[in-house]
Amino acid sequence: MVDTASRSADAVLEGPDDAPGLVGAVEHDIREDAFPIKGWDHVRFFVGNARQAAHYYSTAFGMTLVAYRGPEQGFREHAEYALKSGGVVFVLAGGVTADAEATKHVARHGDGVVEVALEVPDVDRNYAHAIAQGAIAVEEPHDLTDEHGTVRRAVIGTYGETRNVLVDRSGYDGPFLPGFVAAEPMTAPPEKRYFQAIDHVVGNVELGRMREWVEYYERVMGFTNIVEFVDDAIATEYSALMSKVVANGTRKIKFPINEPAAGRKKSQIDEYLEFYGGPGVQHIALATGDILAAVDAMRERGVEFLEAPDAYYEDPELRERIGTVRVPIEELQRRRVLVDRDEDGYMLQIFTKPQQDRPTMFYEIIERHGSLSFGKGNFKALFEALEKEQAKRGNL
Ligand SMILES: [Fe+2]
Repeated sequence: MVDTASRSADAVLEGPDDAPGLVGAVEHDIREDAFPIKGWDHVRFFVGNARQAAHYYSTAFGMTLVAYRGPEQGFREHAEYALKSGGVVFVLAGGVTADAEATKHVARHGDGVVEVALEVPDVDRNYAHAIAQGAIAVEEPHDLTDEHGTVRRAVIGTYGETRNVLVDRSGYDGPFLPGFVAAEPMTAPPEKRYFQAIDHVVGNVELGRMREWVEYYERVMGFTNIVEFVDDAIATEYSALMSKVVANGTRKIKFPINEPAAGRKKSQIDEYLEFYGGPGVQHIALATGDILAAVDAMRERGVEFLEAPDAYYEDPELRERIGTVRVPIEELQRRRVLVDRDEDGYMLQIFTKPQQDRPTMFYEIIERHGSLSFGKGNFKALFEALEKEQAKRGNL
């Protein structure tokens, strides 16, 4: 079990701009790990139109374009835009040709996450451990080099067509990765960024496959199962899912994995699997130090969030369970921000609607105050809001 006294989530919520963000982290010596991880490196997406997506993430998510590579740099198949907000780096890659990898991926899945990259101190060591433990081999360790130095990289497979990339950038000081050139912001960055770290990345897998992927991360990366929700814990009249969370030793890297459970009608996980064409990343949780300001700014710029019903805020049980948080409940209600408390503290969270044409990937914005959990108390309210949207799409 984790020593509560060693938890230090709050102190690091407002790190310097380049801090990877130790959100929800616990003290842990990664030298003891068989698969040591320094932190999240980046998330890479294949999208239908990377230039326009980069503009959306700049204007609506307050991210800043920092690097680019494409045909101009000799990469003839893809145009790739790397954007940053604090320690969060997204790479949006679009196909320039009909048979580019991104073009085909988008035809099958729509816009979605293709790589979740982790920064590690020694790529060869982690890769060797993972392969010895039965990881899916995708790319063996290799060097990427340009005039700014060398990045060592390897790739292993995970659920669906998603991959985990291992990156050692300790020998590199360029704008992002070798081949990328520095790029000017597309729009003026916001005065205050909306979020600064990835908190967790959630995968949806097929019915009956959750345990298999949990075991995969336990075996291959030495992760431990820290939370699970089964059967009634996450059920509404229509929808149910099962979820387990695996995390590394520092708890910086958290991968919840969901599978559908039998409900009266099609669950949100089934809807995802149908429209994504298989398993994939369901949502990315972005950690913020000020969820109220972030949600106000993002809404003003056109991001749509799920709306928890008034009954959620007016429920006397909620007020009793939550106690005092840093703002009056009315402020949360006005913005439809959810709140949950566990034995370690509380957290504020809100979920966007899907961020592409298919009802697949969405985002969570999360402000943690000690709590290291995932908002179990909110699942029912949240699912009811989700189902309302699903019904509008004719998929319930
Ligand atoms: Fe989440």
